[in-house]
Amino acid sequence: MTCRICKSATTEVVDLGKMPIANGFLDERQFKDECFFDLKTAFCEKCKTFQLVQQPQPEMMFHDHYAFFSSTSQAMIEHFGQMARSYLSDFNLNRPDTFVVELGSNDGVMLRHFANIGIKHLGIEPSANVAEAAKKNGVNTITKFFNKDVALEAIKEYGKADLISAANVMCHIPDLRSVGDGVEILLKDDGIFVFEDPYLGDMIQKTSYDQIYDEHVYLFSLQSVSNIFASHGLEVFRVAPQVTHGGSMRYYLCRKGKRPTEESVNHQQQMERRLKLDSMETFVSFKNACEQHKKDFLGLLTNLKNEGKRIVGYAATSKSTTVLNYCGIGSKLIEYICDTTPIKQNKFSPGMHIPIKPYDHFKKDNPDYVALFGWNHAKEILTKESAAGGGGTISG
Ligand code: TMP
Ligand code: ZN
Repeated sequence: MTCRICKSATTEVVDLGKMPIANGFLDERQFKDECFFDLKTAFCEKCKTFQLVQQPQPEMMFHDHYAFFSSTSQAMIEHFGQMARSYLSDFNLNRPDTFVVELGSNDGVMLRHFANIGIKHLGIEPSANVAEAAKKNGVNTITKFFNKDVALEAIKEYGKADLISAANVMCHIPDLRSVGDGVEILLKDDGIFVFEDPYLGDMIQKTSYDQIYDEHVYLFSLQSVSNIFASHGLEVFRVAPQVTHGGSMRYYLCRKGKRPTEESVNHQQQMERRLKLDSMETFVSFKNACEQHKKDFLGLLTNLKNEGKRIVGYAATSKSTTVLNYCGIGSKLIEYICDTTPIKQNKFSPGMHIPIKPYDHFKKDNPDYVALFGWNHAKEILTKESAAGGGGTISG
């Protein structure tokens, strides 16, 4: 395929096989119409961007019944509170003339900290149901995909932005050029554009191939982000690693030359050189590590099952769709997956059709083993479950 960013020829790397929509939890009567696509990845040796070869239409993933609400995890609520507070303190944003924009503002979990103190703000969120939740939280939100036209409309109504923020959004957008064009015009001359997404370095180090699913069209490194936004006159002046989503990176960009490049950028560049994130050999080893994980995980579950143990899943994450479908794990091995999100409950997991049960069902049950699909929330979940007591083993 040609690179989505720089149009050079890419090299195919990991192929995870036929995949359904990661967040496409479904009813029995929808099984026959379920859509699948080839979950293949590629690496561009020119701009160093790791990307999906094929992605389903955005409308199939982000729609009026989109199943992902940012505020379902207490840790994520705290994370976004901290993010807002760090913006306010680091960049002196608590001023009467400040204008803050968030792309993919979800249910307003971050922006409400600006709304609460009366700062002019705008959330731009394509999924109608989460956007409605944001409005109920008092967060000014429009239901749109962000691009240059939306940026022009926003400028007309509110002026240019001091801060454009996006969390777990940029890696979802195939046409980053249109977003870059929008950011380029919407940002004040001394404004900052900050975004965070799952980090390629973490995925390689942890073999967390479950970061790869339809919504994540890219897994960025600092090097790829620098290359992607250079053509929009933007440069990275700070990076900050995050523990969220199993290892993320926050990138701070400004117009070229507007701010000194901070030490964190040099440090991360060295890390990336050490990890060889710019080299094909890294992706060949990653592919082997994925195959080994599949063998090990499937072997472990099969052995436990043969010993007559009951295994259930914990948290029907989007990531679990990749693991379950890639490894071919269905309800013969994992009886059900419990999840706290009401719209996933009493449905079936995409592709493998494992029943999704409410958390209360799990509380009353006493399985022998629990596979933790929400391993990125391990700290929160293990604290909760060890406080609740009970037997069984949880492993991620
Ligand atoms: P994510 O990893 O894609 O953000 O999905 C998180 C899912 O995990 C979401 O469906 C809610 C679920 N979850 C639980 O069921 N119990 C929990 O304690 C936590 C933290 C998350
Ligand atoms: Zn490229």
